[in-house]
Amino acid sequence: MARLTSFLLLLPLLCFVPLCLCDKSYGGKLFPGFYAHSCPQVNEIVRSVVANAVARETRMAASLLRLHFHDCFVQGCDGSLLLASSGRIVSEKNSNPNSRSARGFDVVDQIKAELEKQCPGTVSCADVLTLAARDSSVLTGGPSWVVPLGRRDSRSASLSGSNNNIPAPNNTFQTILSKFNRQGLDVTDLVALSGSHTIGFSRCTSFRQRLYNQSGNGRPDMTLEQSFAANLRQRCPRSGGDQILSVLDIISAAKFDNSYFKNLIENMGLLNSDQVLFSSNEKSRELVKKYAEDQGEFFEQFAESMIKMGNISPLTANNNSIESQTMRNLRIISSHFSRVFKSIETHPSSFQLFSIQSRSYSSPATQSENVSKIVNELSNLTLLETMDLTEILRQKLDISELPVMAAMMPGMSFPGSGAGKSAGGEGKEKKKEAKTAFDVMLQAYEAVSKIKVIKEVRTITDLGLKEAKDLVEKAPTLLKKGVSKEEAEKIIEKLKAVGAKVAME
Ligand SMILES: *[C@@H]1O[C@H](CO)[C@@H](O)[C@H](O)[C@H]1NC(C)=O
Ligand SMILES: *[C@@H]1O[C@H](CO)[C@@H](O)[C@H](O)[C@H]1NC(C)=O
Ligand SMILES: *[C@@H]1O[C@H](CO)[C@@H](O)[C@H](O)[C@H]1NC(C)=O
Ligand SMILES: *[C@@H]1O[C@H](CO)[C@@H](O)[C@H](O)[C@H]1NC(C)=O
Ligand SMILES: *[C@@H]1O[C@H](CO)[C@@H](O)[C@H](O)[C@H]1NC(C)=O
Repeated sequence: MARLTSFLLLLPLLCFVPLCLCDKSYGGKLFPGFYAHSCPQVNEIVRSVVANAVARETRMAASLLRLHFHDCFVQGCDGSLLLASSGRIVSEKNSNPNSRSARGFDVVDQIKAELEKQCPGTVSCADVLTLAARDSSVLTGGPSWVVPLGRRDSRSASLSGSNNNIPAPNNTFQTILSKFNRQGLDVTDLVALSGSHTIGFSRCTSFRQRLYNQSGNGRPDMTLEQSFAANLRQRCPRSGGDQILSVLDIISAAKFDNSYFKNLIENMGLLNSDQVLFSSNEKSRELVKKYAEDQGEFFEQFAESMIKMGNISPLTANNNSIESQTMRNLRIISSHFSRVFKSIETHPSSFQLFSIQSRSYSSPATQSENVSKIVNELSNLTLLETMDLTEILRQKLDISELPVMAAMMPGMSFPGSGAGKSAGGEGKEKKKEAKTAFDVMLQAYEAVSKIKVIKEVRTITDLGLKEAKDLVEKAPTLLKKGVSKEEAEKIIEKLKAVGAKVAME
């Protein structure tokens, strides 16, 4: 019975899982308010770190935009680009498009560290990349937009995806367009998103071919404006100097504006992949002209296409991952037990798990070994283990809050104070083991006694008012770990006196 009661204590926690799930996944769709409850300050945190980084070095804005782009084009916007090589993972950082040119990882780390301080384990790195890209646009004078959120981070990377999916600077227009099409992006997205080359730099190695030997006949790219080409040749030698940088937008390299498109019309796009937008295709040429004439049109389309790119097959809570399968199972379990729990609340005297169970659910003819194993293991858990299980599940499922016990507290009435008694019973069982260190659990308290309980908890734990309040509201929760029996009993006595239920293990 003692064991069973600790199992029961887990149930109310599970009951709230479906709520959290609704809040979280929204049918697998991304939406701006995804962190509204779990990390309402996410936008500010990302913006302030990006703002500092861009203030230190303007180029960082372009680097961060590029990271997001290179993430999204490889198995979707899932943060896979950030993974280092280990075990089965071969990092995308070593691919041709990224090696020696992808940068800004330190800024992403800083953002993540700041988020971990304020909302631990909540915001995905894929979302961080998406927000940082938007902020990079805004901070350099470009458009803003509302970023849909809720991406999950991948645990796998694809080096070949990175090599094959991301357009190369010397790709033809058709190749580039088909790489965009493969991601569900069209020619309008291609032209608008290329407009991000209004800021940033490119390396000599990315445009050398145009300067000296465009198509293998030893001649430069003739679409390149002559004096511009001569100028570039001075900076970027025929061999060596791969890492030497040139600005992508010769008119206003640090400002997000539409001068990139004006350059293309003058045949002064830096990369082959820039210039082909004007020289190779009628539709894209018209778009280049339109954006060169009207910055407003460009900004509007850029924002729209960035959102579209950010939505490329994101991993969400809905994808058939281990997490979502666990979530589905918990939903089934908890919806069943929430009925049981309500029933306990309204009929405290008829508390009998098995009779209630049999009313709503008849035993299967053959019981799966795996099921009975789990049931056995669950019912064997001690109270502390049960709390640990809940905490681990919470972390695994990325549920940042379980606003549970507070809601349950006022009417809470385990018959005969089941919880408290059970722990007492356990104490007796364990006497033989001559235990010397005990953990004290705050299990529940009368709502009216809350203030007194907090006060008592403060003196017991040396916590500040807010911390003590938070702790008390988390009940059932661990109060003190590894204290002597004597001290544990003292604490229990004190808290009992102010109307709390406490147990030691
Ligand atoms: C494009 O550049 C890469 C790397 O510099 C090179 O290996 C490849 O042959 C080039 N492709 C064309 C079509 O010139
Ligand atoms: C130009 O490139 C081709 C192969 O792409 C090579 O065979 C040729 O030697 C190069 N010419 C010069 C002048 O570098
Ligand atoms: C995950 O699910 C979403 C929505 O159901 C879908 O749009 C997306 O493509 C899926 N992602 C992957 C990697 O399967
Ligand atoms: C029990 O689970 C194991 C994997 O953990 C699986 O291989 C086995 O088939 C399952 N047994 C039954 C009866 O479903
Ligand atoms: C649970 O406890 C019972 C009785 O104490 C024991 O027979 C059983 O083997 C335990 N089950 C597990 C999975 O530890």
